[in-house]
Amino acid sequence: MFYGLDDAKAARFREAMAAIGECYPRLFASDMLITVDRNMSFYDDTQFMRSFQAAAETAQERSLIWRLHVLAWAGEHCRHLAGDFVECGVFRGFSTAVLAHYLDFGKLPKQWFLYDTFSGVPEDQRNSNHDNSEVFQVSELQAYVSKRFEKYPNIQVVRGRVPEVLAEQAPASIAFLHIDMNSADAELGALEQLFGRVVPGGMVILDDYGWFYYNEQKHVEDAFFVGAGYRVLELPTGQGLIVKR
Ligand SMILES: C[S@@+](CC[C@H](N)C(=O)[O-])C[C@H]1O[C@@H](n2cnc3c(N)ncnc32)[C@H](O)[C@@H]1O
Repeated sequence: MFYGLDDAKAARFREAMAAIGECYPRLFASDMLITVDRNMSFYDDTQFMRSFQAAAETAQERSLIWRLHVLAWAGEHCRHLAGDFVECGVFRGFSTAVLAHYLDFGKLPKQWFLYDTFSGVPEDQRNSNHDNSEVFQVSELQAYVSKRFEKYPNIQVVRGRVPEVLAEQAPASIAFLHIDMNSADAELGALEQLFGRVVPGGMVILDDYGWFYYNEQKHVEDAFFVGAGYRVLELPTGQGLIVKR
């Protein structure tokens, strides 16, 4: 799946992909990412594929497989560390559903805190360079997410605005921190509250860091991490990765 093309451009794009596919049959073209001749070994990870296919309900979710592979790899690393898991920006809980299944999270001696307004980016936190007022006003979204994770007693769904809600309820020690709110203001607030709690070896994944249309987030996040003595690794998936020392 590729975003932002009208029908005519989409048709030309498909023709171009077909031509590339004739030259390089081992082609990945999805989620604004095109690669040729890569191993893509996540397709051979039976447990990952089972978890991904069980959770992915739409073509858009299925397009995110490489991003989910990154998250699953990070989650597998972080499960062996002290500290809990956190996601800021949950929407329908897709990525957590894949990872929780993949890691059999219900059996881990950890908590996973999921934070969302469940009503989109608050008006005063919207990026100025991108219209991120998109319709996340899914009715009963919180109820859907709570139901989705009810089989995991150690996953807590917390409705509230980041960063303010973190003062009310947040783990003292964090192994895995996934930030995906499409808002520079909210994401910076989350980092200011939570990065200090990430344990050595713990990982932070910034979902939108490498996406050009979300570069307002990259700018504030780069400044935050330079101040903390870190540099963010921009992944080809569009995610940003930081490993805490
Ligand atoms: C791109 S979606 C998250 C997608 C999710 N990580 C997944 O796996 O599908 C962004 C979410 O961030 C939430 N959000 C935006 N600003 C927020 C804030 N300040 N506090 C809490 N949630 C926020 C929105 O309500 C929306 O559900």
